[in-house]
Amino acid sequence: MEIDVFTLFPEWFGWFTEQRHVRNAIAAGTRIECVNFREHTPLSAGQVDDTPFGGGAGMVLRVDVLDSALRARYGIDPVRLGEHRRVLALTPGGRLLDEELVGELAEETAITLLCGRYEGFDERILEHFATDQISIGRYVLAGGELAAMVVCDTMLRKLPGALGHADSAVHESFSPALGGLPEYPHYTRPAEYRGWQVPEVLLSGHHARIARWRTERSRERGAASEAPTVEDLTD
Ligand code: 6GU
Repeated sequence: MEIDVFTLFPEWFGWFTEQRHVRNAIAAGTRIECVNFREHTPLSAGQVDDTPFGGGAGMVLRVDVLDSALRARYGIDPVRLGEHRRVLALTPGGRLLDEELVGELAEETAITLLCGRYEGFDERILEHFATDQISIGRYVLAGGELAAMVVCDTMLRKLPGALGHADSAVHESFSPALGGLPEYPHYTRPAEYRGWQVPEVLLSGHHARIARWRTERSRERGAASEAPTVEDLTD
């Protein structure tokens, strides 16, 4: 997979790409490159954003700046970029990242991530250059960079070679193998610590009982973490 990250803070990704699982993915052929779109602005003094039409607080990333940066990188009109690669804009209001979306993205061969600051993309960037808007939760980060790293981290874990144990991504939380449920609890040695016992069934060596116990615990956790429904909230 080829990942390009458009950001005003490429140095943030230096830390990320040095981490073991990310280095493994890179060694296995994944490419992660950052483009600082300030370096491609057609405006003077490195300007990339501007005050919003209609008034209001904050600054908005300019569509002409993203146009120049994408054009410089790909050599085509960015309106057509979506025909060649998935172009994801990180926005707090976008489609929520979940295991299903991660699985979908991990199938792509080339992805571009656009990091804005606050809510601030000019809407025309989203409309004409991005193929998707993605959010990692209903809260506002100072910028899309951390969200972009979350997206990369989740995708890279799905690629062959990123995890030490090939099976670890198959039976993890929310995987189809667990029926989309959170993972069951894990225990390791010591079997008793400060009077806290590991469930006896896990020490039994009885694989069918262990499997049943784990499924039951996953179901319980799934029920406990269900998001409230609209009905819950309007009561
Ligand atoms: Cl993708 N961007 C920002 N700025 N804030 C967020 C987010 C993204 N997802 C959740 N909060």
